[in-house]
Order: sequence, then C-alpha cells, then structure tokens
Amino acid sequence: MYKIAVIPGDGIGKEVMEATLHVLDALEIEFDYTFADAGDECKAVSGVPLPEETIDIVKESQACLFGAAGESAADVIVRLRQELELYVNLRPVKSYPGTKALFDNLDFVIVRENTEDLYIGLEEETEEGATALRVTTRNAVERICKFAFDYADENCRNKVTAVHKANVLKKTDGLFKDIFYKVAEDYKDIETDDRYVDATAMFFITNPQMFNVIVTTNLFGDILSDEGAGLVGGLGLIPSANIGENSGLFEPVHGSAPDIAGKNIANPSAMILSAVMMLDYLKEHGAARTVENALVEVLSEGKVVTGDIGGNASTMEMASEIRRKIEEK
Ligand code: NAI
Ligand code: MG
Repeated sequence: MYKIAVIPGDGIGKEVMEATLHVLDALEIEFDYTFADAGDECKAVSGVPLPEETIDIVKESQACLFGAAGESAADVIVRLRQELELYVNLRPVKSYPGTKALFDNLDFVIVRENTEDLYIGLEEETEEGATALRVTTRNAVERICKFAFDYADENCRNKVTAVHKANVLKKTDGLFKDIFYKVAEDYKDIETDDRYVDATAMFFITNPQMFNVIVTTNLFGDILSDEGAGLVGGLGLIPSANIGENSGLFEPVHGSAPDIAGKNIANPSAMILSAVMMLDYLKEHGAARTVENALVEVLSEGKVVTGDIGGNASTMEMASEIRRKIEEK
C-alpha cells in the first residue's frame, strides 16, 4: 500500500488525472490516495494557490501526482520543489510509435540539478547593466551525480554523460566535471563521458541515439529538456519527475490548457507516463512496464487516441482502452 498525494489542479489537469487514476486502478497494487487542492481555482476559493494543508499532505505521502495549475503554476510548483527539497528534475526523452517523434528508438533521460546555478535568482543591477550570480556547491553536485548513477544502475542503463561548459566556466563547471568523475569511481560498471553543452545541443539534432543518461546543471538542463521534448513530439506526451531525499512529485510538462479544458479531449499520455515514472520511483518496475506497454499498444494501433496525435477519441476513451489492454494480460 502506497500513500499517494493527488493534486489534480486546474483545467485539463483534472481530466488527465481522472484518466490516469482509472488506468492505475487496473493494477494489482494498492494506492491510498489523499486528494489535495492547489492552483487557480483553489486560490479563488481559499485565497492561496497552495494551502499549508496541501503541503502537509504531500510531505506525509510517499509520492505525489500533480496534474497542472493555471496562472499560479509557478507559485505552486516552485514552492513545492522548495518545501520538499526536490533537487532532481528528471525528464525522459523517449519516442513512442504513432506519435510525431523525429527519431525512432530514442530513449534517454536528462537528470537536471534543480536547486542552484543561475536559478538562485541573485541578480543585481549595476552601473553598466546587470549581473547574475552562478552558484555551484560541492554537496549539490555530488548528490545530483550520485542520483544519476543510481538511476542508471536501477534502470539498467549503462552510460552517464556529464554536460557542462567547463572550458569557459572553469570554476563552476570545472567543479561539476571533477566531482562527476569522482562520483563515477564508485560505479565501475557504468560507462562515463562528458560533453560541452553547445555540442550536446547539436548532437540532440544529429545523433540523439548516442545518449543514455545525461546529468547537467540547472540552466543547461532546462534548455536541453525542452529541446528533448521537441524531439519526441507534442506536449500531450511528455512526463517529468521532481525527486528529493524523501519524496517525488510526478507531473506532465504541459499546463492547464484553457483552450481545450472541459472538453474531455486532452491527451492523457503525459500524465499516465508521469505515473509510470512514479511506479519506477517506487521500484514497482513490473507495473511501470505494464502500464507503459499498454500505452504503447494503444499509440501504435492509433485507433483510440486523442486529436492532438491524429485520432478522435476522448480523454476517458483513450484511458479506458489502455486499461482494457492491462486487464487483457
Ligand atoms: P499548456 O501546456 O497548457 O498548453 C499549450 C498548448 O498545448 C495548448 O494549445 C494546449 O491545448 C496544448 N496541450 C497541452 N497539453 C495538452 C494535452 N495533454 N493534450 C492535448 N493538447 C495539449 O501551456 P500554456 O497555454 O502556455 O499555459 C496555459 C496555462 O497553464 C497557463 O496558466 C500556465 O501558467 C499554466 N502552466 C502550468 C504548468 C504546470 O502546472 N506545471 C506548466 C505550463 C503552463
Ligand atoms: Mg522549461
């Protein structure tokens, strides 16, 4: 029995969450869900986008499924990342059949450091213009690198690539690169290499199959994650995880999509794949593959899929089809 916090949020967040829970219901795993509010509607009712009660519920759970928030998304997600010290942002770049992926057989993961770098927000106006401070601490680099290697180890991936710009950012990224290779010494079975971020951006386009697990700093990870998303098709398909020492929060990359909200036509795949990431995080790897394979079948058949990927099924019809595939097995 797993204690899971469920935050559907706003707009299609609620629709894709309902669809995802419907799919998870088909598994022989028991989830103890606690529903919690956050987002624009929550703010309209309670005055705040992220009530303390919601934070407590998430803290008391083993993992959190998050749908999407609207305009208040930054307040909600950024605050949750801080409160729960979710220092990892994990983004798979995986191509699925029947989607608009630019490459077949793509399957790598970006492990992005989520707490420091230029994103600490220490900017300052100066006489000439402005400056921003880039912070790299040994602890943060060590824990993100360890996470990347442990992740590789647990998920049968045999290579980790550090991405940096140590030739120019000699102190900050120099430290990142050094610590990466120090941590690597404890993982002799895993192949390692490192690349400059600019070359990496190019290889994403020319030869993305060369990557397996990438570990990188906050800003580079932010940019490369979206470039990766571009390689494997629309927003309706891209999941993500935010992971800390004690908890994990799993959410689609998309937002509340007010243009299609309330119509039951949102693609539930990104939320379902976020739940797959949660299952892997809980070490329920078998169940994770069961759900993922059922989704792959539905995507490849292309018959019961939503409009964004060329079908005309509703959100719940697509979810029910995925559930049927799981129950058939
Ligand atoms: P969005 O991701 O909500 O939508 C962008 C476009 O993609 C829209 O045309 C939408 O219909 C489409 N789309 C997104 N998800 C889809 C799905 N599952 N199936 C089919 N089509 C899908 O981003 P946008 O429009 O920039 O922002 C809308 C609201 O969402 C804003 O209030 C923004 O603040 C919020 N937002 C929240 C996020 C979060 O909760 N993590 C992340 C991004 C935006
Ligand atoms: Mg981004």
